[in-house]
Amino acid sequence: MSNIKIAPSLLAADFGNLQRDVELVNQSAADWHHIDVMDGVFVPNISFGMPVIKAIQTHATKPLDVHLMIVDPDRYIKNFAALGAQVLTVHLEACTHLHRTLQAIRAEGMQTGVALNPHTNIALLEDTIQDIDLVCLMSVNPGFGGQSFIENTYQKVRALKDLIQKKEGSTLIEIDGGVTDANAKKLVEAGADVLVAGSFVFKAADPTATIADLSQLANS
Ligand code: DX5
Ligand code: ZN
Repeated sequence: MSNIKIAPSLLAADFGNLQRDVELVNQSAADWHHIDVMDGVFVPNISFGMPVIKAIQTHATKPLDVHLMIVDPDRYIKNFAALGAQVLTVHLEACTHLHRTLQAIRAEGMQTGVALNPHTNIALLEDTIQDIDLVCLMSVNPGFGGQSFIENTYQKVRALKDLIQKKEGSTLIEIDGGVTDANAKKLVEAGADVLVAGSFVFKAADPTATIADLSQLANS
């Protein structure tokens, strides 16, 4: 239970001061920059696109963990590779040919991520888990920051951990949505490796201290 990663979600940053908030993450105890891309089709919200991600990449010094909440993500895999994404996560529910998509992400030199909506059973990953570097379990319905954590997530983490161990894999488990100091420790105990936190970090009076405290709690 050591080396748990913290990935602040820039969706909750102050976009008028994006460089400042990216640099805040650079200088914090965070491990990754979590970048949420929404297309207004797969989810009922639009976040930001390539020019904004380019601006983030210009200032970011930590790995970019890009979460695509978009339909037909295959169209943009090369673009995200060019933008320097280290992990590229697609939604299982948005991929007709998930195995092909994962191969395309790997072919561009990125780590593969697959996100599951709260209603999606982890058993659907049984035949692809060996091709997945990270599974992002959505602990809210995707599309918006600041929502409440769905308690059913704990049992999904445990079931996913069992599946990964059964296949002798090394896939990381990431939790995204409603993560706070009230659920972080329990998520890690259930098997989580990466905690995404948006509002909890950026709406805090002291985001840097909040990241440090979350990391310490998760790794204690
Ligand atoms: C939700 C996004 C999350 C979001 C998390 O669709 O994928 O990454 O930014 O925000 P909080 O931590 O506020 O729930
Ligand atoms: Zn996300």
